Amino acid sequence: MSKHIAIGVDIGGTGIKAAPVNLKTGEFADERYRIPTPQPSTPDAVARTVAKVISRFEPGRKTAIGVAFPGVVQHGVVKTAANVDDAWIGTNLRDIIRDYAGHDVYVINDADAAGVGEATFGAAKGVDGVVLMTTLGTGIGTALVVDGEVVPNLEMGHILVDGQDAETLAADSARERLGLDWDGWSRNLQKYYSEMERLLWPDMIVVGGGVSKKSHMFLPKLALRAPIVPAKLLNGAGIVGAAAHAHHHDLRDRAAAKAAAKKAEKKAKKKGQ
Ligand code: BGC
Repeated sequence: MSKHIAIGVDIGGTGIKAAPVNLKTGEFADERYRIPTPQPSTPDAVARTVAKVISRFEPGRKTAIGVAFPGVVQHGVVKTAANVDDAWIGTNLRDIIRDYAGHDVYVINDADAAGVGEATFGAAKGVDGVVLMTTLGTGIGTALVVDGEVVPNLEMGHILVDGQDAETLAADSARERLGLDWDGWSRNLQKYYSEMERLLWPDMIVVGGGVSKKSHMFLPKLALRAPIVPAKLLNGAGIVGAAAHAHHHDLRDRAAAKAAAKKAEKKAKKKGQ
């Protein structure tokens, strides 16, 4: 696999999706592959499926792989699991995927991955100031992109709106579960995004998730201060962002390992003199 290609994997509440991504263009280098998320979505079942989607693309030893997860991921460890099995909490995501896939991976929250994707190749690219990335899917994912950098693990999908967890009213799954038409769902979205604006004052709001390809059905109904636009990468933002995140960290780790090896060599030479 060329060194400009990394694999991105996006673990969702309903599907596990992956594709190789061309990091020069942000485009998929092959067709996306999706397997439904196993139910119950326990760590072993999910990790086995992630390994399966990764192996489909036959990564080389040096191919960087990024995995996006739908919960807080702090230093590789899962801290919350709103829309996947609770058994994930406390699990080292990086270790378990490596065990099943036989390949090192870099891990990141799914909304943060979407933020990286949109900041690098999409609607948030080159935007001055603060961009609020949101993903409307099984849950609501949020990321703040500040001058191209993502502030990790912002869990603003769980703020209270009308006394309820916002994602139970305004996620795409809520639209389906509550049987809302576009007008009804847009009213919930309006409340949610107005609250976001009151708290965060973004310069731009980006909407991702599967429903973003139908954004013409609800975005024109919203009245907000900041421009609100669909993710340019649509539902692929998480895959692209996970791949870009992995590529970036892989380069950084390789450079650090090289520098450390050089230093050790110098020290050994000095000792030998
Ligand atoms: C989780 C977030 C996640 C979002 C989208 C929320 O329920 O708490 O971490 O980013 O869903 O998957």
